[in-house]
Amino acid sequence: MPGFVETPQPARVPGLEHLHTGKVRDLYRNEAGELVMVASDRISAYDWVLPTEIPDKGRILTRLTQWWFDQLADLVPNHLISTEVPDGAPADWEGRVMVCRPLEMLPIECVARGYLTGSGLVEYRRDRTVCGLALPPGLEDGSELPAPIFTPATKAEVGDHDENVTHEEVARRVGVETAAELRQLTLAVYGRGRDIARDRGIILADTKFEFGREATAPGSGEGEAAAGPLVLADEVLTPDSSRFWLKSEWAPGRPQQPFDKQYLRDWLASPASGWDRDGDAPPPPLPEEVVAGTRDRYTEAYRLLTGLAWD
Ligand SMILES: Nc1ncnc2c1ncn2[C@@H]1O[C@H](COP(=O)(O)OP(=O)(O)OP(=O)(O)O)[C@@H](O)[C@H]1O
Ligand SMILES: [Mg+2]
Repeated sequence: MPGFVETPQPARVPGLEHLHTGKVRDLYRNEAGELVMVASDRISAYDWVLPTEIPDKGRILTRLTQWWFDQLADLVPNHLISTEVPDGAPADWEGRVMVCRPLEMLPIECVARGYLTGSGLVEYRRDRTVCGLALPPGLEDGSELPAPIFTPATKAEVGDHDENVTHEEVARRVGVETAAELRQLTLAVYGRGRDIARDRGIILADTKFEFGREATAPGSGEGEAAAGPLVLADEVLTPDSSRFWLKSEWAPGRPQQPFDKQYLRDWLASPASGWDRDGDAPPPPLPEEVVAGTRDRYTEAYRLLTGLAWD
């Protein structure tokens, strides 16, 4: 089973309890009971966490997520409390830390798609649907959909694929009301993100959000399920969680100019990498130019979206 090529060793910091090592983030709990999320420079593709890091990636994702939370604040509450580095933490945590409200996460990857590509395109060509939703004929790779669609998936363990699920399955897992709310919020946040990105020359083709609820909401009695409002968690609208394309070169009918992980996926899938995606062997280390090419795309996405140079 894929997973980590090299198992990361989380830093030990006094006062922080290590909770979890995700593909990209290390999670800790501080003495106030808050969640301390530290974004690493790790990068994953095809269900593998690669053996080579992308310098500055953790700081780019953190800063971009913070910027988006500000843009979205009137639409949905988010989990960010501060970006303060805890006392005693390694100096290189600077810029990579998000101190967050710990949430009960909903076990759904909330995906919104406004454009057709990737696995959606494969399904469309076969069945003229995406995640079971019927679409009009004549769409091509990169076409804008008549309206954005909500295509939820269930979250997989490290090394496993996320699996698309129907709206009924989401309702079964989280309840009918929450399912409807997730869909509405996902599409609302995607719509806002798409419009902001478009104004700045980027097409937000699709993206993934994670939501949770405050574990002990005001008014909810002991033992009751979390009943507070849905809170936007994790990272948002980053090149890890989204497909970004250069708007000036957008032309349906061919692959688009990616400002995200697609560049790395394409290299891994190409003969240049010498890697067999379908075999058991882990992916190879990334050559310098692929590291630089990936980093350039992440910094460029940051610059275009925020209007700020990456330092
Ligand atoms: N506010 C929050 N409260 C609790 N958990 C959160 C919160 N925000 C994000 N998370 C969780 O933190 C983890 C972030 O780590 P990362 O993005 O590296 O994980 P992943 O690879 O996407 O998934 P996994 O953790 O399953 O490997 C995710 O499991 C996410 O669901
Ligand atoms: Mg994640």
